Amino acid sequence: MSQSIYWQSETHNPQTRIPLKRRLRTHLARGLRPLREFLGKVVKHPELSNVDAAARFKAWQLEGDYLEFGVFTGRTFVEAYHSIKSEERNRNRKEWRTKFYAFDSFQGLPKPKGVDVYYEQYAEGAYAATEHLFRSNLVRHKVNLDDVVIVAGFYSELLKPERQEQFENVNAAIVMIDCDLYSSARDALNFLTDKLMDGAIIIFADWYVFRANPQLGQQRAFREWLDLNPQFKASQYFSIQGYFTRAFNCIASFPSTASESQHPISST
Ligand SMILES: C[S@@+](CC[C@H](N)C(=O)[O-])C[C@H]1O[C@@H](n2cnc3c(N)ncnc32)[C@H](O)[C@@H]1O
Repeated sequence: MSQSIYWQSETHNPQTRIPLKRRLRTHLARGLRPLREFLGKVVKHPELSNVDAAARFKAWQLEGDYLEFGVFTGRTFVEAYHSIKSEERNRNRKEWRTKFYAFDSFQGLPKPKGVDVYYEQYAEGAYAATEHLFRSNLVRHKVNLDDVVIVAGFYSELLKPERQEQFENVNAAIVMIDCDLYSSARDALNFLTDKLMDGAIIIFADWYVFRANPQLGQQRAFREWLDLNPQFKASQYFSIQGYFTRAFNCIASFPSTASESQHPISST
């Protein structure tokens, strides 16, 4: 049947207006809609998370460690572990011995003080989960504990310069700062100063808490740390997931030029 005859008959007979193939396809699509909607709810969104993006970046060029400050029951830690391991496998980095450091009090938040009480958003002891629970969640989710170093205690004590001997071999490639308070982020960043690799990615899970006020929380801690450490420049990296998160690459600075006299957080 030529195209013109086909269209002609179609106008005369409403039954043949839509070709059979297309009608079947429409019925099938209609029938499958509930299944599609259900899958859309339960299957992980195919977009990359910040952790996935950082894991790819690392597998490409950074042979170093993953450090998480604020692990709670282990949700983000487990996600990062599998994401990093899978990217390293994909890029044939089997010889890499990435270590995964977990820093937490396992007693919840310390008592908020100073700027951390401004909005009374956080209470002492919030997010308390035991080390035992964290460890068993890792085992349940198939994390190899030989790759993991668990460091228990409050950062104000744990991360003091005089206690850093045990961390001499740490090379921070990806850092997750998920410990809510300004004071906790400040202590974590000071600890990291001589451990960050050139190009390391820092993911601030709580960048926009405290009503996104730049004078508070992680935004304040990061700005102060950059001011104290002009050897680093921060370049905003990949930030798509969550209402609160933002990720930066910390790039060791090059000899200064006139244009580098600007503020160290660039928006490139
Ligand atoms: C919001 S939870 C972390 C959530 C976790 N990343 C997850 O995926 O579920 C915050 C964690 O930071 C820890 N934390 C905050 N400040 C701390 C500090 N100064 N010293 C030790 N742990 C701290 C708390 O114990 C808590 O487990």
